[in-house]
Amino acid sequence: MVSAAQNERFTKVGPNTPMGNMLRRYWHPIAAVAELEENPIKAVRLLCEDLVLFKSGKGEYGIVDRQCPHRRADMLYGIVEEDGLRCSYHGWCYGPTGKCIEQPYEDIANPKARFRDKITIKSYKVEEKAGMLWIYMGPDPAPLVPNWEPFTWGNGFRQVVFADIPCNWFQCQENSCDPVHFEWMHRNWSSRLSGSGEYGPTHLELKFEEFEYGHIYRRVREDTDKSNEHWTIGATALWPHAFFLGDHIEWRIPVDDENTLSVTWMFHRVPVDREPYVQQRVPYWKGPVKDGAGRWITSHVMNQDIVAWVGQGTIADRTEEHLGQSDLGIVMMRRCYEKNMQLVSDGQDPKGLIRDSKKNACVELPIKHRELFTQSMSLDESRALAKALSYRLNEPDYQHQVGQPEEIKREYQIAMGMIDENASETI
Ligand code: FES
Ligand SMILES: [Fe+2]
Repeated sequence: MVSAAQNERFTKVGPNTPMGNMLRRYWHPIAAVAELEENPIKAVRLLCEDLVLFKSGKGEYGIVDRQCPHRRADMLYGIVEEDGLRCSYHGWCYGPTGKCIEQPYEDIANPKARFRDKITIKSYKVEEKAGMLWIYMGPDPAPLVPNWEPFTWGNGFRQVVFADIPCNWFQCQENSCDPVHFEWMHRNWSSRLSGSGEYGPTHLELKFEEFEYGHIYRRVREDTDKSNEHWTIGATALWPHAFFLGDHIEWRIPVDDENTLSVTWMFHRVPVDREPYVQQRVPYWKGPVKDGAGRWITSHVMNQDIVAWVGQGTIADRTEEHLGQSDLGIVMMRRCYEKNMQLVSDGQDPKGLIRDSKKNACVELPIKHRELFTQSMSLDESRALAKALSYRLNEPDYQHQVGQPEEIKREYQIAMGMIDENASETI
């Protein structure tokens, strides 16, 4: 039973909250590298803080306070310079680490005072990995940005997909350890929505375990047994704010107490006849969550999840829940968050930080159907194997979330050898 105080602890992420402090010890992917290539300045709200992410003329990334420390002008309307970001109000300029490097009038009127040496703008660390930009808002020394195994795979078409979700992050993350929802929300509800009405195989047994980088759930359905990878490998709630499914990772990034940024990194292995394939730029897009009539979109897996999350309320009231056996993973995760909030408040490292670069060369995770993403196969072979494993793979459309732009679909279909480079239309 969750108390009101506990519910607050799980859901408040601002500075100096137990969860906010704990989450500040991890890296957060919050933008695509390609975004800053198109426009070198972007507003970011993360863990209740308003920030501005920029890429300097030299190519260095910085993330600074939204407000200029001079007289609080909006740095989003700043000028990107060779060495940093300049406030457009009076021209004070800040380097990527937040140091004030120029104050045009002060530097002339009273150069001896070196007033600029006394000024810094709040700033955090930014790193690039897997086509995304990651932010670290915690104390030094920062851990490494995890190099999850799929980030090391070659010959893949990768894309980064965003969605703005108007509810608290914690209910989204609880969905990462919730096997029964697959059967109802994705299988059976989809079946009803499409008019077929036929229900899928039901779950017979579940098992939840903790490991170094999160929590694993294993399951047996009517149509599978314990030799199936649903049981032998399982799926991973990736600590502290993601769901890992082998070919993709979904992060539930806490924007503030009432908003979450969904970030999906998706990998498609290209067919053998397209190898060696080197992707020049990881494309990104943001999908809608509501239709024209203002109703939540229900057509795709991720959108269905979003319907569940926002439906629980802006901040789910856990004091009113009634948990059963299907929720044992959620109970396990909640205990783990409590334990790790306490560790941080005791001055210790929380779970799963990686500080050893050798270890970080490739961090292996449990991956179902690994061969589909790591082995050379023709498109037909991979589709046949996926079908035999009851896995949807390499379809012409993006299956996971609604709204993929036509030009990215085209890029994907060319990479996958589904259409010719010169084709006038996608399939
Ligand atoms: S408010 Fe930014 S330089 Fe004056
Ligand atoms: Fe789901």
